[in-house]
Amino acid sequence: MSEVQTVDNMVTIKIDGIDYQAKEGEYILNAARANDIFIPAICYLTRCSPTLACRICLVEADGKQVYACNAKVKEGMEVVVDTPNILEERRAIMEVYDVNHPLQCGVCDKSGECELQNYTLELGVDSQSYMIPDTKRESVNWSSILHYDPALCIVCERCTTVCKDMIGDAAITTVKRGGAELDKGYKDSMPKDAYSMWNKLQKSVIAPSNGTEHTNCSDCGECIAVCPVGALASRDFVYTSNAWDLKRIPAVAAHSSDGAQIYYEVRPTSIEDRTEKIFRITNEWSYVSLDGSARFAYDFQNTTATKDKAAFDAAIEAFKKADTVRFNAMITNEEAAMLQTLKEKMGVKLYNPEVRAFQKFLNHYEAASGNSLWTTDTDAMMKKSDFVISIGAALRNDSPAMKYAFNNIQKLNKGAGLYFHPVGDTLIPSFGKNVVAFNHKVGLEEAALYLVLDLFADKALLPEDVKEYIASFAKSETKTVKEKEVKTVKELVLNEETGEEEEVSKKVTEMVEKEITITTNGLVALLGGDASKFDDVFAKMMKKKENFSMMLGEDLYYHEKAENIAKLVALVEATCPIDVVMTPPKSNALGVALICDLDDAQSGYTVGYNENGDFRLSALGSGDLDMPAMNQQEGTLCSITKRVLPTNAAVEYAGHELNDLMKELVDAPALTIDWTAMLPTDRGFKAVNFDSLPNSFTNDGVDNRGYTLDTSNVETELPEVVKFDENAVLDGEIAYRCNPARQFNDFTAKSHEIFETFALYASKEKAESLGNKVEVVFDNGSITLDVVVDDKITGDIVKVSDFKAAEGVYDLFGESRYTKVTLRKV
Ligand code: SF4
Ligand code: SF4
Ligand code: FES
Repeated sequence: MSEVQTVDNMVTIKIDGIDYQAKEGEYILNAARANDIFIPAICYLTRCSPTLACRICLVEADGKQVYACNAKVKEGMEVVVDTPNILEERRAIMEVYDVNHPLQCGVCDKSGECELQNYTLELGVDSQSYMIPDTKRESVNWSSILHYDPALCIVCERCTTVCKDMIGDAAITTVKRGGAELDKGYKDSMPKDAYSMWNKLQKSVIAPSNGTEHTNCSDCGECIAVCPVGALASRDFVYTSNAWDLKRIPAVAAHSSDGAQIYYEVRPTSIEDRTEKIFRITNEWSYVSLDGSARFAYDFQNTTATKDKAAFDAAIEAFKKADTVRFNAMITNEEAAMLQTLKEKMGVKLYNPEVRAFQKFLNHYEAASGNSLWTTDTDAMMKKSDFVISIGAALRNDSPAMKYAFNNIQKLNKGAGLYFHPVGDTLIPSFGKNVVAFNHKVGLEEAALYLVLDLFADKALLPEDVKEYIASFAKSETKTVKEKEVKTVKELVLNEETGEEEEVSKKVTEMVEKEITITTNGLVALLGGDASKFDDVFAKMMKKKENFSMMLGEDLYYHEKAENIAKLVALVEATCPIDVVMTPPKSNALGVALICDLDDAQSGYTVGYNENGDFRLSALGSGDLDMPAMNQQEGTLCSITKRVLPTNAAVEYAGHELNDLMKELVDAPALTIDWTAMLPTDRGFKAVNFDSLPNSFTNDGVDNRGYTLDTSNVETELPEVVKFDENAVLDGEIAYRCNPARQFNDFTAKSHEIFETFALYASKEKAESLGNKVEVVFDNGSITLDVVVDDKITGDIVKVSDFKAAEGVYDLFGESRYTKVTLRKV
């Protein structure tokens, strides 16, 4: 009898005669991996659709040959991993991959971590049975980042698959190439799967899907990460390092709040210069996908630091006389706890406009919902959600993790999506045919939430006044329509036999005018949607949908009506089957929001930490006292997935740290990481030492890094929400505080593989009307910026970058992400 216990949603299968538990509906390959069983597989990517490009994952299931990456487990299924026929197919596949593969392993970037090398050895390929004339294929640069060498490409399609299913850009595709035809004799003489794979391989190559030589994509580099061979690399990395020379430092991506797992890969700079340098970032790409800032903004360390005694003493004096410490989200939890201690012991104000609005929003949400934090996360959504709503975020720019989840839900979960945002983005509707994008006026975010209540709430649970308010938007109108009507008419017809007229009935179709009453949803129309078609479209979107989630973004935190919005979110959670996730704006905004009692304004003498101030601590190497950058520090960061994640120092730092100042100013422990176990447990942290924090994923992709914040849920009354003002919308020239997708802060700006400039970004038409440079005039100041085209946005709203602290863009925008401006051509 099997010793394996059956649990809900699990089935028992046999692999090579042994019983294992597997998730119902799971592919055989994933079930095997979760149970530590190896099945060869090249083209399949966990979290993406199977493409059957490589065919090497052949196994026998219940007596039939199937592809393990594409066949689902069933109760009682018996799987055999290796049969003589399968072993023959696999070996032939590897031999084919090796035909004409350039013999440059000695210098290839991938050598040592190449799956072609590994599988060739694993499957015992020690001779070659096949041959074909080669065709010259030239290397190309697809973008400022991407380098493609088609001669090394095995057309496994992992790059195209990840770009479409995970990233959402679908920027590369398989195209035809003029490879030689296979010798006809191979069709009969070689194993059939190997033949089909080879036939396709000879005909294909990868290229930008826009038909040009350049990708015009978000340059995330995820295609590089998943490439099993050396065909894709960053232009900067090609021929610089061998995999075996690089040391991996596990860390957390520092710039966005996604908390993505990364490895800084370091080695000495050169034979002469033994200083360790970061050469690249890699990731556990089966479980996590990076954005461009996480992968390429890595060389932001402070190289100018020394232990400057005079500067240190001046910093102590500055803190002693400081009224305010101004800082941002690029700070670890431990440092945030230090600043909070300074507030408690020395009475300084803590000013952090990047986080304060988010913190207030969280407080409103907690008061209204009883939940201390949001109820789902991006990982959980990708696993089960099949209907996703996004409100208040420029998804492509604000949160790569949210963008990937929104897209992945469409592609993998046969999902549907509603996207509400004032700035049109042509990429979002391309994620799936069941995505509807509302480009509404600035200020109507509450209307979007009322529409969500209208569409999804159990009306019996909604307060009467809310129900009536929503019903008041229903618009009935009487219309005159022309309709076909079939009528029976009688006519007299001459009977030729009898010569007499006879009455016969005949059906005729006539167009008649009719008055009908149509009811449409006024909220849909108000939000810029097509109300006449929406009911049908929505009914189609809802077919077979069971798991609903809603993403909320930074626009809502900076909204004039943020409190009412937070209450509406709580009402959605209480009355709709919808789980919610919120984007912490940038880096460790969640950690700061939980740990620090932030103030609404700064005043008096100010110490700036990576921000403007009378005295500046700076990890950028440009302040009055140097500090370590995030890639030079140990500590923890909180993520959108509500986890507390450990990050490590990749490169050396020789200067002072914040904790050195703390030891002089207040009672502080010896090391920065001594603060990890002292993080506030009443805010969800755990008293765990830094060195005890785990830092890995399980084989089936469960994130075990650090720990999950404790959250509380208190029973509350339904919140009292108020009506919104339809007329309180912004019209005219509008600026939106929003960065290009790979820029988040001064540290991304400093990194040499991030190219987006600090500028005003506009749609093509708008940019043409503005010229090359404009002065953006706000109520309280102005800034002159270059105009750059973002060809994925539509409409007239312009995006103004905020990633350089010294430019003071937060101060120009004040308590909103949108503001009316005057744009003057320069
Ligand atoms: S470039 Fe790499 S990932 Fe893309 S098809 Fe070729 S081998 Fe596969
Ligand atoms: S860099 Fe990212 S967006 Fe561009 S082609 Fe590669 S995977 Fe797609
Ligand atoms: S991994 Fe299954 S066909 Fe490639």
